[in-house]
Amino acid sequence: MTIPTAALHDAAEHFGTPLYVYDSAELDAALARVRFAFGTARVYYAMKANPNLSLLRRLNAAGVGFECVSSGELARAEAVGASGRQILVNGPAKSGAEYATGGRLGATFVVDREEEVGLLPPQSRALVRVNPALAVSTHDHLATGAVDSKFGVTLEQAPRVLDALRTAGHTPLGLHVHIGSAIRDADDFTAAFGRLSELREQTGPLAVLDAGGGWGLDADLGGIAREAWAAASAFGAELWVEPGRYLVARAGTLLTRVVGTKRTGRNFCLVDAGMTELLRPMLYGAVHPVTPLWDGLEMESWDIAGPACESGDLLARSVSLPQPTPGGLLAVGEAGAYGAAMSSGYLTRSRPAEVLWDGAAWTLIRRRETPQDVWAAEEGVHLSVHQSV
Ligand SMILES: Cc1ncc(COP(=O)(O)O)c(C=O)c1O
Repeated sequence: MTIPTAALHDAAEHFGTPLYVYDSAELDAALARVRFAFGTARVYYAMKANPNLSLLRRLNAAGVGFECVSSGELARAEAVGASGRQILVNGPAKSGAEYATGGRLGATFVVDREEEVGLLPPQSRALVRVNPALAVSTHDHLATGAVDSKFGVTLEQAPRVLDALRTAGHTPLGLHVHIGSAIRDADDFTAAFGRLSELREQTGPLAVLDAGGGWGLDADLGGIAREAWAAASAFGAELWVEPGRYLVARAGTLLTRVVGTKRTGRNFCLVDAGMTELLRPMLYGAVHPVTPLWDGLEMESWDIAGPACESGDLLARSVSLPQPTPGGLLAVGEAGAYGAAMSSGYLTRSRPAEVLWDGAAWTLIRRRETPQDVWAAEEGVHLSVHQSV
């Protein structure tokens, strides 16, 4: 992160905490790293990682398309001016509304099961998502290409689904694979792309191979790109990729203030952000770097605990900090992906504000919710539906 510490203090003062701050230089750098590694591959940003409209506009202006998995995400894509080949519609249980909106926008569909062939809008462009049935190096909940995952069709089914698409008057562009998120070991990608290449004999040449996303932040992008291109070339296909986390995680930091401390069986540093602002530590045991923005000489080990009445509401365990005092600021790093996106109104907490640093100034890109925002959909609802007997 290139944001000066003084600017972080200013942002916390001005916009309040908890606060998501994003570094535009790091956003640009991440996209540049992806383009350097993957060359001419078409990039679709998996907006589930962070759907903030300002970030989407920035990526759209840089020529990046969007991978969408809900009507809401499709509405966001449309709101920032994307259409047609700039949009992929994905998901294992798409709704009628999602087919209709995808069709209206001229998006490309990723088919996740054979029955979808009959559900697509007429003459759709489509990819077939293949489950390579592999164990991968990530948390179980983040693995999507395992033999027992709900995603995609089997290797055996894939050629048949491509044929069925053609027969139904659609345009089967090619194959898609996405084996999970935050994957540590590049060999997992090699194995997955290798499985897809086994289909070459049966499918013949294809127009597109979509190699998904899922790259861990320290992943060897060059190595993954080489393997992806090798698989694409085997099919004579162009390469598409769908990074989410990689494009936005490092750009985002959650700023939270110390509320107080407690020494019981462990040392707890109590802060004003928790599972409602950053769910990943609780959901996946994710580890985020935590940096104190205050000085002190004596370091001790602290658990960073949020305000929710849930035992699991811990942002981090065993963080070495100088003595915390109320008002001290902590920066929780690598929080740009699946951070704000997964924040919730549980406990009628207000989702935090989000601000973007351009190197000289802050721009508010999402205002802090009010309690009224959280309960807005409950107001003025007086409709009763009577059961006819
Ligand atoms: C189909 C698909 N593509 C891309 C992504 C992005 O993954 P990541 O954010 O790990 O790059 C996901 C995330 O779950 C996904 O399901």
